[in-house]
Amino acid sequence: MPRWTPCPGAVHLAPSILAADFGRLADAVHALQGSGADRVHVDVMDGSFVPNFTFGTDTVRSLRKETELPLELHLMIIDPDRHLETFARAGADGITVHDEACPHLHRTLTAIRALDCRAGAAINPSTPAAHLDDVLEVCDLALVMTINPGFGGQRLIARTLGKVERVRAEVERQGLDTEVEVDGGGDEANARACVEAGATVLVAGTAVFGHPGGAAAGGRAVLAAAGDPPPR
Ligand code: DX5
Ligand code: ZN
Repeated sequence: MPRWTPCPGAVHLAPSILAADFGRLADAVHALQGSGADRVHVDVMDGSFVPNFTFGTDTVRSLRKETELPLELHLMIIDPDRHLETFARAGADGITVHDEACPHLHRTLTAIRALDCRAGAAINPSTPAAHLDDVLEVCDLALVMTINPGFGGQRLIARTLGKVERVRAEVERQGLDTEVEVDGGGDEANARACVEAGATVLVAGTAVFGHPGGAAAGGRAVLAAAGDPPPR
């Protein structure tokens, strides 16, 4: 199966089910109908790379049956190479790994693509943007963490937006179509700033699933606040 291709030239919303009710995950993904989301962001945590646990391959397999939206996995785990094939078989459309967890990041990204998944590379707030420069050409998505990973509901760290600008500039300098994604603390109030910094994919957990009007209203509100990508 060829890799999933997101519509180019638009701002994309990736709701994070970390902020959903874990007892009702199927309902949560169904509730994204009409939200404007073009993918579901699935945060996988192992209690080692980050101090929290979340989903494994069985959850991914179950989610796969509940939605036609692509599943974008964000692996916050040590030694992700051991599990790439299992997650791909479980139904992942994209797999993002952390630079900090991958000594051979270029190899890992290439392996993800070989599994017909979109390959993503993530950096923590304390990791310089330059860590991505030499892997962007094998990367479908560059994820800049705008919080320290592990928990939803945190406030976006403003300084990280400077790194989004730096990653965006490098993507363009190399003439690539790598997506630039921001993850953590994204909401209606900062969505436009993220897009102006160069993000084209906005992860939002609390702002979507915690919206008083429901997930569909939350997603639409974030996308409306984000607006269109600025001309470059
Ligand atoms: C945190 C996760 C994020 C998180 C975002 O480690 O990677 O995807 O779910 O949630 P909010 O939008 O609530 O910050
Ligand atoms: Zn995430």
